[in-house]
Amino acid sequence: MAHLLAAAALLSASGAWAQSVSPAWGQCGGQGWSGATSCVSGYTCTVSNPYYSQCLPGAAPSSSAPAPTSTAGAPPPSSTAIRTILGGGYGSTISTLQFSAQNGTVNVAGACSSGPSPSWIALSPTNKGILYSTNETPTGGLSSFTISQSGMCSRVGSATSGGDGPAFMAAFKSGNEVMAMNYNSGDGISYTLSADKLQFTNPITIPKFPVAVPHPHMVAQYGSEVFVTDLGADKIWRLARNGNAWAITGFIPQPTGSGPRHVQIKGPTVFVLHELDNTLSSQTIPSSPSANSTTTISSLSVLPPGITDNYPGRFHAGELLMSPDGAFLYASNRDTATPPDSRGDAIAIFSVDGAGRLALVKQEFTGLQVVRGLSMSPDGAFIVASGQNAGGVVVYERVSGGSDLRVVASNPSAPALTSFVWL
Ligand SMILES: *[C@@H]1O[C@H](CO)[C@@H](O)[C@H](O)[C@H]1NC(C)=O
Ligand SMILES: *[C@@H]1O[C@H](CO)[C@@H](O)[C@H](O)[C@H]1NC(C)=O
Repeated sequence: MAHLLAAAALLSASGAWAQSVSPAWGQCGGQGWSGATSCVSGYTCTVSNPYYSQCLPGAAPSSSAPAPTSTAGAPPPSSTAIRTILGGGYGSTISTLQFSAQNGTVNVAGACSSGPSPSWIALSPTNKGILYSTNETPTGGLSSFTISQSGMCSRVGSATSGGDGPAFMAAFKSGNEVMAMNYNSGDGISYTLSADKLQFTNPITIPKFPVAVPHPHMVAQYGSEVFVTDLGADKIWRLARNGNAWAITGFIPQPTGSGPRHVQIKGPTVFVLHELDNTLSSQTIPSSPSANSTTTISSLSVLPPGITDNYPGRFHAGELLMSPDGAFLYASNRDTATPPDSRGDAIAIFSVDGAGRLALVKQEFTGLQVVRGLSMSPDGAFIVASGQNAGGVVVYERVSGGSDLRVVASNPSAPALTSFVWL
């Protein structure tokens, strides 16, 4: 009966979608689109790319999306510079990409040997010539690398992650410590870095998180605290250093079954991307680490319009980026269906107002399959994306103040990458 009800709800939802007029921000055209091609009053159907047209306010796309801060955060890119991007994935190398906005190219310039599955990479915050990676295997590891002037990496150090499946690591802002989380074994580790930042010393084990099946994913610094998203616990754990140990001081609760994966933090607000229920929420961070409560400001679906999907469904929200001015968030929603949506995965663009309220601005279809890796250039000008299953690499320019993305370069034959850093 529950199944019948769910099916009926799905039918009526898709029935509503097949109306003759698309709602505000809804899809109104694109490859394979058979729904409405006109928009509700006050909105105009605007071509975003060959895969997607959208109902935007007003008559012209340039006057469209709400841009809380119109110019800050996305300075005009220096058009002649070559930018170097490093990318890791589930192979055994870290690739060096060279991106030219002027020529509209993103080329693979080389790769260095990394050990197995460098699925997450992170630059030293204090030395741009040093890189770290996970080695996401059952006997997980971490690696360190030097980066040459020409952007080529070279593996130097390695250490155990102390568990199974390190899917994420963070290099702390001090430049002196790293922390990794083991997704499968539900525990983690931190290391103090040697003076040259290349050797992992003083391992501190973070014990398995105290729930039946923990799946810690991301590590984010918040003042002197560390936040750890735990998909299995539906919590963001709050950790504090206590002598030569990390102690759980409390948590920020998440909806049951939501599966928190990645976060961005702005002031006392945490933005949480949930992998299992495919929502993006904004929540207050209590000043007391042991308050174990939160107020949800907004919670919105990151899925393309007209789609509902429940665990264990086909979509698994992936990466979350925030613009330098904090005015926009970009979320990937990994479509794991066979065959997947012909438009590829979408990147959902949200605006954030001063009170932390979210509004969906646009779904930008990428043509890529399974966008796990998404990374913004430090100046906020560009976003690089890759399809873990297919499609290669695409580089977008953030345009219209950040409310839109424009393809500036793509390379379908680039390797499948799941994590990037910009040099
Ligand atoms: C851009 O293309 C021109 C002409 O092919 C080439 O000479 C130049 O090196 C390229 N620049 C970059 C940054 O790739
Ligand atoms: C919050 O949770 C932590 C354990 O995670 C616990 O030690 C603390 O007592 C809790 N706080 C409250 C107010 O219950």
